[in-house]
Amino acid sequence: MTSSAPARSTATRAPTRGSIQVERLTCSIGAELGGVSLADAARADALFAEIKALLLKHRVLFLRDQDITRADHVALARRWGELEDHPIAGSDPDHPGLVRIYRDLSSPPEHYENSYHCDATWREAPPMACVLRCVETPEVGGDTIWVNMVEAYNRLPEHIKQRIAGLRARHSLEATFGGTMPMEKRRALRASYPDAEHPVVRTHPETGEKILFVNAFTTHFVNFHTPDNVRVGQDFAPGASHLLSYLISQAAIPELQVRFRWKKNSVAIWDNRCTQHYAVQDYWPAVRKMERATIIGEAPC
Ligand code: SIN
Repeated sequence: MTSSAPARSTATRAPTRGSIQVERLTCSIGAELGGVSLADAARADALFAEIKALLLKHRVLFLRDQDITRADHVALARRWGELEDHPIAGSDPDHPGLVRIYRDLSSPPEHYENSYHCDATWREAPPMACVLRCVETPEVGGDTIWVNMVEAYNRLPEHIKQRIAGLRARHSLEATFGGTMPMEKRRALRASYPDAEHPVVRTHPETGEKILFVNAFTTHFVNFHTPDNVRVGQDFAPGASHLLSYLISQAAIPELQVRFRWKKNSVAIWDNRCTQHYAVQDYWPAVRKMERATIIGEAPC
């Protein structure tokens, strides 16, 4: 099958202007950095500035052998901004903001994450970025996939771009994480974390790029209907759910993705505004332990 996407250069390993070695991992998204310690980057302005610029360029960065302390992990993430905890996954008691994503025999595999999503878009101001470190990984399996959602938007047919311009959508914690809870707990979750509404196409606040911004937390469009296209009582949502499914399915296109094989002390840093990710759920009953610092973002527009 031919592609209408513009041709790009192949992956290269070349020094940046600074000290960091950068190897692009696919033509669309992701680079592995070498010759850098994140503990140093947490303290050195110039090194951090280089990493920040590389993140905007590659959208997800990978580093190996980062045997850093939890304090350094938090300190690095804090250079981007304040951190947030997660209402369901607990945080390290000594390091608030460092969310534990631990999977072992006590977690039923059907509760593992296995859908393409941006983190916490059910918040009014979803996270801008995350720093995830691997503490323990299965011998095989447990990879994570990231997707370039700027490219997902760019590749949409023109008539779809026109149809979704100005559309807004609802994002829900209750409809997703709440799905495994008894009804009472689910209602309480919704009361504490009400649904959020975001544009279907957001603009990256730093690069100005347009981003397709619907994911597994998105339940429906809120302004698809107009007095002209609603037929109350017959077909309440003509075409809306089909269009939403189509948009959500764009994240599964392999040409937009990079897949990362974890090792202990590997770190991934991603821009949560313009990527989605999927933690592959193929390793149960093996243990997988990850720790994530989640940096508070701004309301999408
Ligand atoms: C996440 O969804 O933020 C965690 C991804 C992972 O565990 O690989």
